[in-house]
Amino acid sequence: MTRAFDKVQKDPNRVIIFDTTLRDGEQSPGCSMNLEEKLKMAQLLDELGVDVIEAGFPVASEGDFEAVNEIAKMVKHATVCGLARAKHADIEAAGNAIKPAESRRIHTFISTSPLHMKHKLNMEPDAVLEAVTDSVTFARTFTDDVEWSAEDASRTEDDFLCRCIEAAIKAGARTINIPDTVGYAVPAEYGAKIAMIFDRVPNIDQALVSTHCHNDLGLAVANSLAGVQNGARQVECTINGIGERAGNAALEEIVMTLRTRSDSLPYETNIETTKITKTSKTLSTITGFGVQPNKAIVGANAFAHASGIHQDGMLKNTQTYEIMTPESVGLTESKLVMAKHSGRAAFKSKLLEMGYNLGDNAFQDAFTRFKKLADKKKEIFEDDLIALIEDEVIRENEHMRFLSLQITAGTEGPQTADLCVMVDGEKKCVKVEGNGPVDAIFKAIREIEPHSEARLQLYQVHAVTGGTDAQAEVTVRLSEGDKFVNGQGADADTLVASARAYIHALNKLVRKRSSQNPQRMQEAATP
Ligand code: KIV
Ligand code: ZN
Repeated sequence: MTRAFDKVQKDPNRVIIFDTTLRDGEQSPGCSMNLEEKLKMAQLLDELGVDVIEAGFPVASEGDFEAVNEIAKMVKHATVCGLARAKHADIEAAGNAIKPAESRRIHTFISTSPLHMKHKLNMEPDAVLEAVTDSVTFARTFTDDVEWSAEDASRTEDDFLCRCIEAAIKAGARTINIPDTVGYAVPAEYGAKIAMIFDRVPNIDQALVSTHCHNDLGLAVANSLAGVQNGARQVECTINGIGERAGNAALEEIVMTLRTRSDSLPYETNIETTKITKTSKTLSTITGFGVQPNKAIVGANAFAHASGIHQDGMLKNTQTYEIMTPESVGLTESKLVMAKHSGRAAFKSKLLEMGYNLGDNAFQDAFTRFKKLADKKKEIFEDDLIALIEDEVIRENEHMRFLSLQITAGTEGPQTADLCVMVDGEKKCVKVEGNGPVDAIFKAIREIEPHSEARLQLYQVHAVTGGTDAQAEVTVRLSEGDKFVNGQGADADTLVASARAYIHALNKLVRKRSSQNPQRMQEAATP
């Protein structure tokens, strides 16, 4: 009996939330995270109350293996899962990576649709069926908790799908996942597929049925819920709906729909919904993938009421236009926290209260930056401190550290950047002209540390709080070959934040170059 199976046995309306932000989400272009960032997200997912964390695809690279392994050591409540194709090497890597976890799962998959079997696998259906039995049987030698997925299930013929599922359960799979891999299904059809499985697979009572829906037609959440209404008791989803192409079903939308519409969808999850906003924001900051302002649940406008009629209704009774409260997803006003005259002790105790325990050097740098910020900005909010501290924490022990920047800009060129940085303890300064101040800064960094193969993919600025004196939070995404990295920087001066963000991204690229396994299996990285 697996942990998930047990939970559903005790409460038949319990829906297991299987989060794949760190696997299906992370593998989409531009969303890659380093080890530190994955650990931070895994910690937040565990606190959020997800039942299963799919932590990665261990065979894909040494970095993926290490991330799954470190997450397995750290996670306290959730089951930690590693993905594997129907190959012994994959399954062995997944089994070894998840070993330290208290509750561990191997998720193994193979394509079952005629299109995939012929063109992707070049395998006959009987060989696929054999691979199902073989892979699940082998996975069970590492753990009792094995999930089997029929990739492209929504385009698989019913008879063959049922035979594969029956074989997987017979071999020991305790979760059967039905992916709509290409986001092709529509809700009634996807729901009917799940119902058909319950009708036709004789041993289906020995496993949980799971949904895994992609959002190519914008139907991932609707399809997942149709699956639940027809008996599925696990939903695979990601924070902010990140994932391949148009993404996966968004965790926050699934969970808040079940909670808000429990009258017609009487199902429960274990999610502590007040932690949704923090988890969503952290992911956006790490990946540089902001959510659209009108995104359900976590968009900036999701709880904003702009029109006069709506505001009037809200003042009379909030339920006129609000079906859930902002507090229920953890959206609270950023508190005013510090003033210009706040001292070192008050600053330290505020940081501790917010969960930051910085080392001496980082604390000193953060305090100096806080004082400078307080000189420029009348009011310092919690969000300002979070931006400042996150910026400081990510900079500890970096190969290149920002020191100072002077810019000349305006209509009469040339625009120049006069930049000083520390590179491995040595101070380096350059003065460079550019096509505008941002171009001049990035050129200056490139002059100090040439990296001609790298391409700038994204440069994004957003204000941490309101007001013209708000801090800017800048995200820079660089790519080099198949490697993508995101860097962040925050400062009251947008150009300083830009320099910090670019340096942060470059440091990550340098680290990635030296840590990556040259044998990385590219096709393995994109199941
Ligand atoms: O979309 C998909 O089919 C997948 C499988 C690996 C489960 O992500
Ligand atoms: Zn997927």
